[in-house]
Amino acid sequence: LFSSVELAPRDPILGLNEAFGADTRADKVNLGVGVYYDANGHVPLLRAVREAEKARVEAALPRGYLPIDGIALYDMAVQKLLFGADSPLLAERRVVTAQSLGGTGALKIGADFLKRLNPSVPVAISTPSWENHRALFEGAGFQVVEYPYYDAATHGVDVEGMLAGMAKLPAGAIVVLHACCHNPTGVDLRTDDWKRVLSVVRERGLVPFLDIAYQGFGDGIDADAEAVRLFAAADVSFLVASSFSKSFSLYGERVGALSIVTASHDEALRVQSQLKRVIRTNYSNPPTHGAAVVSAVLNHDGLRAMWETELGEMRDRIRAMRRGLVERLSKVGDFAFIERQRGMFSYSGLSAAQVDRLREEFGIYAVSTGRICVAALNEGNIDRVAEAIARVV
Ligand code: LMR
Repeated sequence: LFSSVELAPRDPILGLNEAFGADTRADKVNLGVGVYYDANGHVPLLRAVREAEKARVEAALPRGYLPIDGIALYDMAVQKLLFGADSPLLAERRVVTAQSLGGTGALKIGADFLKRLNPSVPVAISTPSWENHRALFEGAGFQVVEYPYYDAATHGVDVEGMLAGMAKLPAGAIVVLHACCHNPTGVDLRTDDWKRVLSVVRERGLVPFLDIAYQGFGDGIDADAEAVRLFAAADVSFLVASSFSKSFSLYGERVGALSIVTASHDEALRVQSQLKRVIRTNYSNPPTHGAAVVSAVLNHDGLRAMWETELGEMRDRIRAMRRGLVERLSKVGDFAFIERQRGMFSYSGLSAAQVDRLREEFGIYAVSTGRICVAALNEGNIDRVAEAIARVV
């Protein structure tokens, strides 16, 4: 049966974790996967999470099934975070939200739902995009095309190229947009650019699928939701995949959500019923723990304030590491663009060959495209990383 099965290549991001784990060098550094490490190099367990978990353990709750679309209070909290508590869309009950297995799970149930709805349209992703976007949408049966995004010459967004690329897409095409902290480049659209993107979306009748996995890591919770809120105010139908993996440091708990903005409450009910069928036939219903913790934090004033403080600390520490790296690299070149980038990543400009040298000679792991996770730097490894980069460039 399996004699003709070919060996698949390693995953470009999670495969690095496997190689990193097998590396026996004591001073190795993992700048591959998008994970925030604290100043001591550990994945933090947030204080707000710890408090909420303690209360849950003490309550010793039974472990029944969740509803197909997850914990209702969690779904509502997600909506408030994305659209703003005062959003008319929420009052009009036009948003359908389903708890999902991380942001990736949200993309997948969204893709499966859209495929049933409109199987022949292409999905457009940015050049470059998160490594898994193409594979995920192709896996759902879509043809995946690209629109220009990153301009290596300016270390910014090629806005004109992006708009021209989007204008060539057929009506109904799905456009995957990174709402903030673009993965892998760290360069985002400005408000005016988003407005122009929105105009093309409306003119061409495109279907926006916003991916927001790093809310709070750019400029703050509300500031990072700007694109979502701009689209929400524009009366277009769209999808949002969101994640708490990074913002709650709950990676392995797989806590995310898919939100779908519809034209009316009646439409929302119908969409919800179909989305539930997609979930039921994939994994039946989501797990409880992570979403219950997030829900407990977001729905409690004190814990929520604590979480916001902790999220701010993570954001500030990443910024400090960006500054530190730029300063240390100033001897070998102008890396000021690293400080302008947002979120966990920097598209460093390192070539695949330079990334190979970093790994082989220095035990420093990065994605072959040159993406480095700045959130994995700390005072204990930043000198070594900067020296190694200086040696290979
Ligand atoms: C990343 O881009 O490193 C993260 O989103 C983790 C992942 O699943 O790839």
